Amino acid sequence: MLDQSYYTKTDEFIEHYGRKASSLIPIMQDIQGEYRYLPGELLTYVAKEIGVKEAKAYSVATFYENFSFEPKGKYIIKVCDGTACHVRKSTPILEALFKELGLSQKKHTTDDMLFTVETVSCLGACGLAPTLTVNDEVHPNMTPEKALALVEELRGEGL
Ligand code: FES
Repeated sequence: MLDQSYYTKTDEFIEHYGRKASSLIPIMQDIQGEYRYLPGELLTYVAKEIGVKEAKAYSVATFYENFSFEPKGKYIIKVCDGTACHVRKSTPILEALFKELGLSQKKHTTDDMLFTVETVSCLGACGLAPTLTVNDEVHPNMTPEKALALVEELRGEGL
């Protein structure tokens, strides 16, 4: 059950964009921007409020891979595993992060909700491989050591 404040905030987004079908994506983006994920209850609520079928809202949300139904950490680390990064040893970077944070391919977010670690197929910065992003900021020429130092730095900021 979501706190009432989630609905109050969502009402603000609905008022801002208007009660029409074309508001669906911007409202979903703002909800995800606010909470770092898209709670299913809110998607159902928005669909009803703007007159879109719930099934349609879900199919739009699942079509765009940027929307997440799972809560994510404050810092979302995406390790590139595209060809260029893979060849330049992105796997040891991912393994070092998983080990340091107690994560795996099945568990992506730390219990303290500070970090989410995911892989992506290409960040579009192949010349800087191996790369990762933290909340969409690109970090080039990574190594396992640099990635762990970055985690330490972020931990300091996150406290
Ligand atoms: S393969 Fe990693 S940025 Fe393109």
